[in-house]
Amino acid sequence: MTKTTSADIKKASAILREGGLVAFPTETVYGLGGDARNVLAVKNIFDIKSRPYNHPLIIHFANLSQLDEWVLDLPRRALQLAKAFWPGPLTLILKKAPGVIPEVTGGQTTIGVRVPSHPVAQALLTEFASGIAAPSANRFTRISATTTEAVFEELGERVNLILEGGRCDVGVESTILDMSEESPTFLRPGAITKSMIESVLGEKISMSSPAGTTVRTSGMHALHYAPTTETVMLTRDRLLDYVDGLEVKAEAPIALMTRSLLRSSLSALHCQIAMPQDAPTYARLLYQTMRELDRRGFKKIVIEAVPEEMAWDAIRDRLTKACGVRS
Ligand code: TXA
Ligand code: MG
Repeated sequence: MTKTTSADIKKASAILREGGLVAFPTETVYGLGGDARNVLAVKNIFDIKSRPYNHPLIIHFANLSQLDEWVLDLPRRALQLAKAFWPGPLTLILKKAPGVIPEVTGGQTTIGVRVPSHPVAQALLTEFASGIAAPSANRFTRISATTTEAVFEELGERVNLILEGGRCDVGVESTILDMSEESPTFLRPGAITKSMIESVLGEKISMSSPAGTTVRTSGMHALHYAPTTETVMLTRDRLLDYVDGLEVKAEAPIALMTRSLLRSSLSALHCQIAMPQDAPTYARLLYQTMRELDRRGFKKIVIEAVPEEMAWDAIRDRLTKACGVRS
């Protein structure tokens, strides 16, 4: 792993100016970045990811003051949240300014904006001095990348440059909050929880109803963040029964992702990974662990359900989606 230098940042910024694509680290996951003003670069992002064109991209900025030309207005509550959580893992959906190209917002009248805190992202955004459109650096419906190795596995040579930034600290994608309507709506859980947002705003916010109108957030699809191996989630009791049954039936190799080691001894055929007990460390290792288990060709990945507490919302959301029904 070679550390990103200021020469790399200059090179990356030049690539973006020429319409090329650069994968870069953020504190959540790696992003596949392109100039958000360049129609061809934006189209290329969708093509490389095999992502449907109507799924809007998040635009990244170095700081709040860069937002002026991109959003129609910054409501008081959005400003409060930006001041409280930026730079950091929060995306705000706002009304877009007229000059924003429709390709980047999937034709919508709103725009997703975020100011990431990772020093490499900050350096790149400061050098580029404009909005960088960046979805997670993975193919559509696949697990997001939290290391440069994972970015390479997902996108290979199709990006012009991959900037090194180590393993992402948060490990799951940013919290998304829709502030484009009168009342804020929570669209995607992340490291910044609903109650953290509510305590800054001093009011309760509503959850999006997935069964509601059209799907606007690709992360809201049932099958997202998914390994190719069949993946199921079980409560601890059901998991213990399942493991007892495994020994009897001598099934094909199964991977278990549990919250602590199971008491039952397992035959060497199967693999058991005990995940960290606390949510932040669990989240940091989640995608890398799923990616690794997926690669090893097990018949099934069986995941122990995580606590119902709010601190686990983002993890529970991604695990549920990883177990989504395959079409
Ligand atoms: O942590 C993150 O947010 C990472 C890093 C790279 O910043 N990015 C990320 O991007 O997760 P992506 O494209 O994989 O997921 C962003 C989600 C998408 O599901 C997209 O549909 C939604 O944000 N989104 C973006 N703009 C939106 C808008 N105007 N209205 C509703 N949803 C929007
Ligand atoms: Mg994504």
